[in-house]
Amino acid sequence: MHPDIETVLFTREQIAGRVKELGAEITRDYAGKNLLLVSILKGSAIFLSDLMREIDAPLEIDFMSVSSYGNHSTTSGRVEIRKDTDRPITGKDVLIVEDILDSGVSLGYIMNLMASKSPASLAVAALLDKPSRRVSPVECRYRGFTVPDAFIVGYGLDYAEKYRNLPYIGALKDTVYQ
Ligand code: IMP
Ligand code: MG
Repeated sequence: MHPDIETVLFTREQIAGRVKELGAEITRDYAGKNLLLVSILKGSAIFLSDLMREIDAPLEIDFMSVSSYGNHSTTSGRVEIRKDTDRPITGKDVLIVEDILDSGVSLGYIMNLMASKSPASLAVAALLDKPSRRVSPVECRYRGFTVPDAFIVGYGLDYAEKYRNLPYIGALKDTVYQ
């Protein structure tokens, strides 16, 4: 285990199992639809790449990049769109693929923006949900795991751009970010 990790919350195998279940659910729910997965960079890149291969249905992918300012371990509440989707989402069954739903500020902002562009439907798949810190209510249709109020890294999630390559999901030691 990496020395900066306090505890491993989900192993590589546990993640793979859960992602497979989510893929099967999404496959059933989106049969005959116009599925477009929109991955929010960079944290959800690994989740997207695993999840899309567990969905047995035609789909398209696109990417958005948003940021709340700074390298802080808490969300500042200000959201900036750095990159919008390449193609219009109008008429598509959009499923936003996010790494973690924390305060809900980023996702709330993204969902309002997307809803204004008339998709056929709009829903969220979040690998992780940290409900204890929610400020903006966001409806999450597909949830991988619920996590405690700790700083989570690995499997795409970073702290100051590090730890994204850890194959497991873990809680960072608070000595690292305090
Ligand atoms: P929210 O707007 O507070 O829901 O969180 C938005 C973004 O903050 C997430 O998509 C993550 O990129 C990042 N984030 C929130 N909590 C964590 C965490 O525990 N570890 C790593 N990134 C996090
Ligand atoms: Mg993110």
